[in-house]
Amino acid sequence: MIEAETDIEDIEERLRQAGIFGPASEEMQLYESRLTRFFEREYARYRDSGRVPRDYGVATDEGPIMEETEALMEQHYDEQQDFFSGFLDTQYRAYSMAYYGESAEEVRDSAATLEQAQEAKFALIAARAGIRGDERVFNIGCGFGSLETYLLKHFPAIEIVSITPSKVQLAHIRGRMQDPADPLCSDRLTLIEGAFDQLDLQALGGRSYDLVISVAVFEQVINMQAVLEKIASLLLPGGRTFHHFITSQAAIPQFLNPDKTRIGLYFPGGRVWPHAEFSSHTDHFEVCDSWFVNGLNYWRTLDEWHHRYWGSLPSLYRSTFDHEQIAHWNNYFSLCKAMFAPVDGCFYGNSHYLFRLKG
Ligand SMILES: C[S@@+](CC[C@H](N)C(=O)[O-])C[C@H]1O[C@@H](n2cnc3c(N)ncnc32)[C@H](O)[C@@H]1O
Repeated sequence: MIEAETDIEDIEERLRQAGIFGPASEEMQLYESRLTRFFEREYARYRDSGRVPRDYGVATDEGPIMEETEALMEQHYDEQQDFFSGFLDTQYRAYSMAYYGESAEEVRDSAATLEQAQEAKFALIAARAGIRGDERVFNIGCGFGSLETYLLKHFPAIEIVSITPSKVQLAHIRGRMQDPADPLCSDRLTLIEGAFDQLDLQALGGRSYDLVISVAVFEQVINMQAVLEKIASLLLPGGRTFHHFITSQAAIPQFLNPDKTRIGLYFPGGRVWPHAEFSSHTDHFEVCDSWFVNGLNYWRTLDEWHHRYWGSLPSLYRSTFDHEQIAHWNNYFSLCKAMFAPVDGCFYGNSHYLFRLKG
């Protein structure tokens, strides 16, 4: 910890001496370009393999729905509030890819701020999920209430039930639910504490929903068959389910096992599934549509987060972040950026899926 009046230049100099470099530095840009080339070579190896997870001994219809949720909360989502406030957009506090455009050129040329691009992401999701505004919606993994803020503001009759196991996120949302000026202060929002995979159907509200949705959560799902079966049991006849999560175009074996990559350090239990895998589970649902969203959208989001994070260091430094924590999260942004950058964002990105309950 250092004295309150220390500014970013002093902190940067101290960090530089400790071998920690910010996103605008030559050192960091060189590191990121090397990392990007490494990912490019990895993609080239697997791009045309035509293999699916099962060919690498990984099933998506066996085992628990998710695993390592406690470690995930401890190592990531329950990091101190000031850390997240320092880099997330101010309007939605969305902790998921923002949307700048369809193609790599549109993403690069977009003049949108992070705040505008997050709003565009939620507008795109609402359109693709076919939200009319009269639904009862269940949101798995609500973060800081980003989708809730969007839906409650834009759809005056919508009802939302949301769940997260994160104590930091729950405290944030509960605080806002007490503030009459906040969109989350609404009797149309119900918050559930816990893990979706652990709670029984009754605790989740039973068969009462028109739409079950998730944004940036299903990277944690291991058993796709079981999660879709549980979702099917929450839906009213004709109900829909929509999911947004990180995917790759082809299966990359090391990303099917969180112990095999450095990204697993930040997301215990998380995987990157190939785009086609989720739509192959059709016991309970018919696939209405699926989309691949160019990964440069995530590169740009992460780059903006990275710069905001670095700019927030004076206050983090004053509270509890030491050099090790600063380096840990600084490397996180770089690592994730390098993953989405190659092949103009065409290999790693986010997928959107819209399914309708059968029968
Ligand atoms: C990357 S954040 C996305 C947050 C939010 N959907 C957004 O877009 O801003 C992932 C969210 O999934 C939640 N999560 C992780 N494991 C979960 C589980 N087993 N059950 C419910 N939520 C979970 C985390 O607590 C966090 O809220």
